[in-house]
Amino acid sequence: MEALKGRDVLSLADLNTTEIQDLLDLAAKLKGGEINLRCNKVLGLLFYKASTRTRVSFSVAMYQLGGQVIDLNPDTTQVGRGEPLVDTARVLDRYLDILAIRTFDQQELELFANYAQIPIINALTDLEHPCQILADLLTVQENFGSLAGTTLTYLGDGNNVAHSLMLGSALMGMNVRIATPSGYEPNPDIVEKAKAIAKGSEVIVTNDPIIAVKGSNVLYTDVWASMGQESLAEGRIPIFQPYQLNEELLSIADPNAIVLHCLPAHRGEEITDGVMEGGQSRIWDQAENRMHAQKALLASVLGAN
Ligand code: CP
Ligand code: NVA
Repeated sequence: MEALKGRDVLSLADLNTTEIQDLLDLAAKLKGGEINLRCNKVLGLLFYKASTRTRVSFSVAMYQLGGQVIDLNPDTTQVGRGEPLVDTARVLDRYLDILAIRTFDQQELELFANYAQIPIINALTDLEHPCQILADLLTVQENFGSLAGTTLTYLGDGNNVAHSLMLGSALMGMNVRIATPSGYEPNPDIVEKAKAIAKGSEVIVTNDPIIAVKGSNVLYTDVWASMGQESLAEGRIPIFQPYQLNEELLSIADPNAIVLHCLPAHRGEEITDGVMEGGQSRIWDQAENRMHAQKALLASVLGAN
């Protein structure tokens, strides 16, 4: 399994439609136990922000492949004391086989990738969260059989998750609708990129949650204030309230619609308890799929067999 051998994944748009589809199909086979891959490699995790799912799912995926994981906590390594990234990148390159980074600035990730020859994986930046969206696409595929032609609506902040969802949906022929309050729209460069990638499918950015949700197959939301924006959280609550994923909005989606949330969730803010725990929620499958999708990614980038 080496379709992506040696490649960086800094953005979901670093992968093309076929590469994503192959990863999803591999993830489904790994999940179903149809194939078993092994690689004796070492993954580094360099996370400048908190993480439960990404940290644990990457670690378990690597262990199940027969590899090892080193957690490079910035508080206990020299990076937290200001060692230049260009130095750290060249040193880690000599020890590790692959490095997953969670940080703020996408440019920091790009700097790492420029100075390290080993594959660098985006484990979340302020701009994108590509590994999350691989799991999301796997969850949609499991529920609808295929991706092309389905409609996904994202409600809330035009953030990292929204950006990677736009790119991933456009690449896979899905219609994507992003509904945000005015002033919280996604990055215009990402919107343009998604529109350029989409071949016939719709890429809609609107401030109207009702138009965005009507007839949609997948409703998705995320926190209203991302990591690093905690001080803004309280002030955003009244602004974002009309975009809450609640029973009323869910009732105007397609009757077979599924509900996704990347987690962690603020119940009672961006999503109600009832919707999260309701029959249309696929949130726990989605969280599990992080592990299967990332195992497929690791296997492909590391050339497991
Ligand atoms: N969804 C996600 O990336 O979760 P963590 O922040 O827990 O890794
Ligand atoms: N948008 C959220 C996603 C967390 C997985 C954040 O960046 O905090």
